Amino acid sequence: MCGIVGYVGNKDALPILLESLKKLEYRGYDSSGVAFLDHDAHLFVRKSKGKIRNLEELIRTQPVPFAHAGISHTRWATHGLPSDINAHPHTDSKHHIAIVHNGIIENYQELRDALKKKGDKFVSATDSEVIPHLIASFYKGDLLAAVRQTIAKLKGTFALGVISRNHPGMLIAARVGSPLIIGIGEKENFIASDVPAILDYTRRVIYLKDGQIAILTKDSVELCSFDGKKVKPKIDTVSFNVIAARKEGYPYFMLKEIHEQPAVLDQMLSLRLKNKKLNLEGLGLSEDILKRTRKVMIVACGTAYHAGLVGKYIIENLARLPVEVDTSSEFRYRNPIVDKHTLFLAVSQSGETADTLAAAREAKAKGAKVIAICNVVGSSLAREADGILYTYAGQEIGVASTKAYSAQLMMFYLIALKLAQVRKSITPKASKDLMGQLLRIPSLYREILKDMHNIQKIAEANSHFGCFLFLGRHVNYPSALEGALKLKEISYIPAEGYAAGEMKHGPIALIDEYRAVVCINPKSHVYEKMSSNMQEIRARKGNVIAIATRGDREIKSNADFVIEVPSSGELLSPLLVVLPLQMLAYFIAVKRGCDVDQPRNLAKSVTVE
Ligand code: AGP
Repeated sequence: MCGIVGYVGNKDALPILLESLKKLEYRGYDSSGVAFLDHDAHLFVRKSKGKIRNLEELIRTQPVPFAHAGISHTRWATHGLPSDINAHPHTDSKHHIAIVHNGIIENYQELRDALKKKGDKFVSATDSEVIPHLIASFYKGDLLAAVRQTIAKLKGTFALGVISRNHPGMLIAARVGSPLIIGIGEKENFIASDVPAILDYTRRVIYLKDGQIAILTKDSVELCSFDGKKVKPKIDTVSFNVIAARKEGYPYFMLKEIHEQPAVLDQMLSLRLKNKKLNLEGLGLSEDILKRTRKVMIVACGTAYHAGLVGKYIIENLARLPVEVDTSSEFRYRNPIVDKHTLFLAVSQSGETADTLAAAREAKAKGAKVIAICNVVGSSLAREADGILYTYAGQEIGVASTKAYSAQLMMFYLIALKLAQVRKSITPKASKDLMGQLLRIPSLYREILKDMHNIQKIAEANSHFGCFLFLGRHVNYPSALEGALKLKEISYIPAEGYAAGEMKHGPIALIDEYRAVVCINPKSHVYEKMSSNMQEIRARKGNVIAIATRGDREIKSNADFVIEVPSSGELLSPLLVVLPLQMLAYFIAVKRGCDVDQPRNLAKSVTVE
């Protein structure tokens, strides 16, 4: 999950490589670097630990000449600590060849040992550094041939950018398993990990496919397969606008995106529930196929996985279909039972998560129809799926997913409704009532957001705790998991989500006056059970923050703090309770001085396994 940019053309490469790279910083930001070729084919490399601003500072102190071609990289470390020397680009021993790499070379150690036996000197602890050394070992004057021979030796995943001082006007790119696009300009061409990086320069793109190599000069782009066969490029025109992501007055993108949620859901419902008519355009499956569905399988990672867990409760409740939910990284290795009667839903905000992509390919290979629920238009998962349901939540910059999650939840309610309608498992009246309830959700979000300052006070009053538990039951057990993930990933406080009924089977041993316990307990058929859990925690001096239904007077006796959400149908409560959970995490992280938008060790999309 690193970000790669490459340029070859008539303009000065440096500003283009740096500005484009900044748009990919969400993919990783523990170090960055650039490599250039100047008129005299000298190869310059500048790289630095930390964010791109550190690299810019370095270049200010060590300027580089005008260069027509170059590559740049922002890193999320897989092998080797974040450091100057482990930053990309990497070069061969003679500094003739430079590369940037996104992915993991699984057999790098054996390749490195073999090259070291031949006298190669390695300077970094990375897997990627073997690549330029290998290319140099095969190079006999034909850069493309040397790259192809190198690729033949690599096991694992890579999106690659390669330049060489012996070929100053050339940039070579190749991919397997990690995203890479080619931008077609006027007298200039680009490579990048993602479309937003180059939209300022061109909308004409080629989505490089696994097993393809691109050879770029300023006047041409040619494609071939790894075995050298020419490939006719398919040039797409990017239609969507990547709105220049600005904070628009918010201190962090995450807070902005929390506030965008009512508008995102409004827009989604106006597209998909217009005049209470369900529209799942993109699903790409006939009602007949849906009727014959015997099982739903949902795979995803992280927050998207939690949305899938809520989806299970909703689909089973409304459509009376068995639903299995698994993390993508587990699903893909357990020889899963999937067939043509399985409705396979792969959920991914970025559409680039390596494990989810691999799980979708595994399901497809077993005969299932793969439906992707994605936010990023044109992402790898979107392009590979049989059907695609876009959430259209807009670009999500904050690494902690918020608006994409609520949009994924809403999508699951709509899918469940569709399945229930097709299978006649609910009455037309119940269907209409549910649609009416869903249409009210955005306005209920706006009501909760009005309570933000109260939530901020409660968050700050509890920000000193060194450990949090999040408890929920039934549809809000996944909400507890999501609340814990939100908090831990941006505040670095250890936080665990549990099914509340599980407390007495061990976790209750953790409870004492040094713990904060967030209890998600809106009015529901499990309200009394959840209230008992709260009493058990209070009896052991645990500090309870309750999320409750507005007007619930009883709950105050079982909690130290109460955050209220408006009443909604029990099944819809996950849509509402997540808002206070997001704000609790946000305000605690801010109070602790954390980098909310770019938390340490994380990245916005995990394109490595
Ligand atoms: C969520 O806040 C995290 N940033 C992370 O768990 C994320 O949900 C996960 O990596 C999946 O990403 P995706 O939806 O892009 O596949």
